[in-house]
Amino acid sequence: MFDFKFDWCKEMETGVSIIDAQHQELFRIGRDLEQLIFRGRNATSQELLNLICELREYISYHFYTEEDLMATHNYPLTAQHIISHNKFRANIVDINLPLLGRHPEQVLPQIKESLQDFLFNHVLTEDRELGVYILKLAS
Ligand SMILES: [Fe+2]
Repeated sequence: MFDFKFDWCKEMETGVSIIDAQHQELFRIGRDLEQLIFRGRNATSQELLNLICELREYISYHFYTEEDLMATHNYPLTAQHIISHNKFRANIVDINLPLLGRHPEQVLPQIKESLQDFLFNHVLTEDRELGVYILKLAS
């Protein structure tokens, strides 16, 4: 994969403002994660823990928002979209905190890669499809 930088770009937009705002927040969390990787051993356990908690909470909140929109709009691809959410959520929930505490230099890049893959693949395909559907209903 090319060097993805958590820089927001127009191509990532779904056109649904609440989804786009939340995706931008996930990019911000991704940039914070990169900062912790950059700081390496200087990152404290509390900072690591705060980041993981924030990521877990924000992902749940964001998925809830999208799934609520899908239900409200009777989105036909809801079931498969939720499967993608659940897969990614499981990755984040399964982060091994004791291992992260001992080897942040190993675990943080894995989390970063997982978040990058999710944002790049899921947002550009499934979330954009959802956006097209919602915008079409609104027009
Ligand atoms: Fe989604």
